[in-house]
Amino acid sequence: MKESSRALIISDDEQISRNLREQLIIGGGFQVILENSSHGGLTALKSDSFDIVIMRYAMPDMSSAELIKGIKKVDSDAIIIAFLEDHNQQVIAEIFKLGVYDFISKPVNVEKLHFLVNKGIELHSLLAANRKLGEGLKENNASLQKQNFLLAKRIEESTRNLTRLYEDLRSTYMRTIKALAQAIEARDAFTHSHSENVAHIAVAIATQMGLSSVEVETVREACELHDLGKIGIEDAILLKPSSLTPQEWEQVKKHPMTGAQILEPLTFLNDVIELVRQHHEHFDGTGYPEGRKGEDILLGARILHVADAYEAMTSARSYRKVPFTKEAATVEIVKNRGTQFDPQVVDAFLKIVDRL
Ligand SMILES: [Fe+2]
Ligand SMILES: [Fe+2]
Repeated sequence: MKESSRALIISDDEQISRNLREQLIIGGGFQVILENSSHGGLTALKSDSFDIVIMRYAMPDMSSAELIKGIKKVDSDAIIIAFLEDHNQQVIAEIFKLGVYDFISKPVNVEKLHFLVNKGIELHSLLAANRKLGEGLKENNASLQKQNFLLAKRIEESTRNLTRLYEDLRSTYMRTIKALAQAIEARDAFTHSHSENVAHIAVAIATQMGLSSVEVETVREACELHDLGKIGIEDAILLKPSSLTPQEWEQVKKHPMTGAQILEPLTFLNDVIELVRQHHEHFDGTGYPEGRKGEDILLGARILHVADAYEAMTSARSYRKVPFTKEAATVEIVKNRGTQFDPQVVDAFLKIVDRL
């Protein structure tokens, strides 16, 4: 027991108060405050802290239940010892129900008094320490939560900035590369707007086939860049008005690979690059550059291939000044359904061809 332990005695019976005080001061070295009314006791509790409260049960100015409730309201950890003059079983049951720690009765057993008070004080300090710990944890928790929230906001903002930067960078790259593709097309007066037209047709087919908006966008970008590799073909071959020799044809067949190689460093275009590489593959495996077959060819590339063929047939070329009519080109596409072209893509194409 600490010397500075403080006890509050609430009792209107002077003899009881004096007796208890003496025992606590002489026997235990307590600082003792006496209050002779319930109201006085509560006021003392509000202005000072106590390690233990001893109250006379059944004070005249307030019901015991109300007084105990009042004490607990001021100090929820308060340890209350009731002083009972009449301690039948019913009263004892009642005080414990009200939250009293223990009781002493007349005549005061000094040993029991000291034992109870010391145990009560120990419990009080444990409860107080526990509460302090809980509050500290709560505070730490709240501060951690706040820090977490701020951190999450900062990360979110940085991510937004990075995403914006990435999008800017991506769109700058795309514009540059599209400009290059258009410049290549401009070499040949006949293929002017070819890629743009192919994109228009392929997007219509892809949408008809129920591809997601991201997949449709990939198809569009692949169409815009699909013949980029023609940069590696000499003008003499590219613009030749007559049919090509086998050697010249070999040159032309390199363009899907050349295109893919040019785009390869742009890793964000990975999906697009594959479509560029595969845009001349045939469904039956007779295409180039790898001779892929069926579903081994990406769906986007199978769509691009149909759109590319239709666009090429319906436009004038250096080697064929009069283009196919829409109907003749469509017949040609249908004729190669299942061999050169994916049957499902052809079916979707037939549903949109009138709108072209
Ligand atoms: Fe091509
Ligand atoms: Fe093409």
